[in-house]
Amino acid sequence: MGMNLQGKVAIITGGSRGIGYATAKLFLDSGADVIITSKNSKTLNDAAKKLGGCFAVSADVTKTIEVSNVVKKGIEKFGKIDILVNNAGIFPRIKKLHEIEESDWNNVIDVNLSGPFRYTKEVIPHMLKNGGSIINISSDAGLKAYQDFNADAYSASKAALILLTKTWALQYAPNKIRVNCICPGVVDTDMTAPFMRTEADREFMNKDHPIGRIGTPEEVAKAILYFASDDSAWTTGAVLAVDGGESVK
Ligand SMILES: NC(=O)c1ccc[n+]([C@@H]2O[C@H](COP(=O)([O-])OP(=O)(O)OC[C@H]3O[C@@H](n4cnc5c(N)ncnc54)[C@H](OP(=O)(O)O)[C@@H]3O)[C@@H](O)[C@H]2O)c1
Repeated sequence: MGMNLQGKVAIITGGSRGIGYATAKLFLDSGADVIITSKNSKTLNDAAKKLGGCFAVSADVTKTIEVSNVVKKGIEKFGKIDILVNNAGIFPRIKKLHEIEESDWNNVIDVNLSGPFRYTKEVIPHMLKNGGSIINISSDAGLKAYQDFNADAYSASKAALILLTKTWALQYAPNKIRVNCICPGVVDTDMTAPFMRTEADREFMNKDHPIGRIGTPEEVAKAILYFASDDSAWTTGAVLAVDGGESVK
């Protein structure tokens, strides 16, 4: 039998699209009760309808009160939270450091870094009862520098998430709460669509990955499932690149 999440309750942030949506689908297929959340309630409800059998609560990750409400609604409905996937994120337009407004910087940090902080802080008290698994979605951009890429808040937010993964893993290992991190390379989602408008651009992106192609949301979801499930029971504080070999170049 494959990995299963029977009897587990999971919150997936950014579950309306891309990697979060593929993860919600795989978690449902693996037997979990799934709560998806994202900012735009229409996109979220459409996604929930398409997925079938999953619970949707819209919230902006930058609003503490809305984040609290997602966890509260999840507890009211399912009685516990076993898994948190900190996946919601934004990728700003590529600019050089001296062209970035301070408000752009703050916004990216608020979503990509403080978002996971808010959700994790909110679920930990519930996980202290039965243990749990938290999966942070970082990026190859948090592992190394890229010349033509954002030398800005995106890389900073993703690098910080890697270290927070390790810190939280150490803090809560005695409480049987595991915290792991995934660093995807370029994955075919709305986030990366602006960089692949032409066939030539797509070809360039494919070639940039040693395996010869960009990834699919489903391929990242499978790695998230591993960290979510008890099959990874002895793994915490781990950082897994799921990136076609990009980060080891
Ligand atoms: N795609 C890649 O190549 C790639 C590579 C490395 C890492 N990642 C990371 O993987 C994660 C998912 O990426 P993706 O490509 O699947 O992104 P995506 O297709 O752009 O989807 C982003 C998701 O995050 C949600 N979100 C954004 N801002 C939010 C906010 N303020 N509050 C609540 N939800 C918010 C979006 O919901 P709304 O539509 O409601 O805003 C959407 O559900 C991100 O953290 C990203 O940085 C992606």
